Amino acid sequence: MFLKESTFRKFAEIFYQLTGIELKENKKYLIENRLSKFIGENKPYKTYEEFYKALLNDTSGRKKELFIQSLITNYTFFFREPIHFSFVRWYLRNYLEVQPYIRIWSNGCSTGEEPYSIAISALLEYPNLSRYDFKILATDVVVKYLEYAKEGKYPKSKLQSIDQKLLSTYFEEYKEFFMIKKNVKELIAFRLLNIISNYPFSREFDIVFLRNVLIYFSPKEKEKIIQMIYPHLKKNGYLIIGLSESLVGITHFLKPLKYSIYKKA
Ligand SMILES: C[S@@+](CC[C@H](N)C(=O)[O-])C[C@H]1O[C@@H](n2cnc3c(N)ncnc32)[C@H](O)[C@@H]1O
Repeated sequence: MFLKESTFRKFAEIFYQLTGIELKENKKYLIENRLSKFIGENKPYKTYEEFYKALLNDTSGRKKELFIQSLITNYTFFFREPIHFSFVRWYLRNYLEVQPYIRIWSNGCSTGEEPYSIAISALLEYPNLSRYDFKILATDVVVKYLEYAKEGKYPKSKLQSIDQKLLSTYFEEYKEFFMIKKNVKELIAFRLLNIISNYPFSREFDIVFLRNVLIYFSPKEKEKIIQMIYPHLKKNGYLIIGLSESLVGITHFLKPLKYSIYKKA
């Protein structure tokens, strides 16, 4: 089954409305490929056009969710780019005792490995963290990733590179899985939030993780996102993007430091 140019444009438009991510012409083949699992004989829809119509009439939001999920990658892993977790530990050593509260936002948290790595890093630095006003907000646009994240149950194969001591302290073994312990989970609030929607926050953040999310957005959209996040950072707060990413060519008011870390000076 093949995806007509006009139907591709309709998919691109609905995807943009849902996520703020533009799908350029060169993504047509990718869309055709990723959506092909829904299209054809003995599949939910006979044609791409039929699937598109179903998306328009989807009142439950479940089909739209499946659609977004098929086109966005959720690739992530525990302690990805470890320097950023060392940075969290450094920040807490310097500020936990002196700030009235600490908030860290994992924006585009995928299946939870990033916010759990932040929580574990914080507990490694301060085992008595529950005595402080410390919280992590973890958000994503895909409900299914958040459900997975909240459950905190990871196949052992995904945790092979993690130190045994760390595993036994912060995880419980359950058959072929490791489950995140309650004291780690309690530090995190998981919420559905589109990066391009209005942010309903009452408190400012000390650190915002925005790693490997901007890759989906055009330079114009990236700029908008950084400018939307900016007012929600504390003065002297930090924004962290992925090590392979950069804000070059984007207007912003943050001071670039090392390791893709930016400061609201
Ligand atoms: C590649 S993963 C990165 C996960 C993690 N931050 C890391 O670096 O390992 C990108 C995540 O961004 C999320 N994402 C993409 N567009 C988004 C949007 N418009 N709003 C919120 N999250 C979005 C995806 O659902 C996905 O879970």
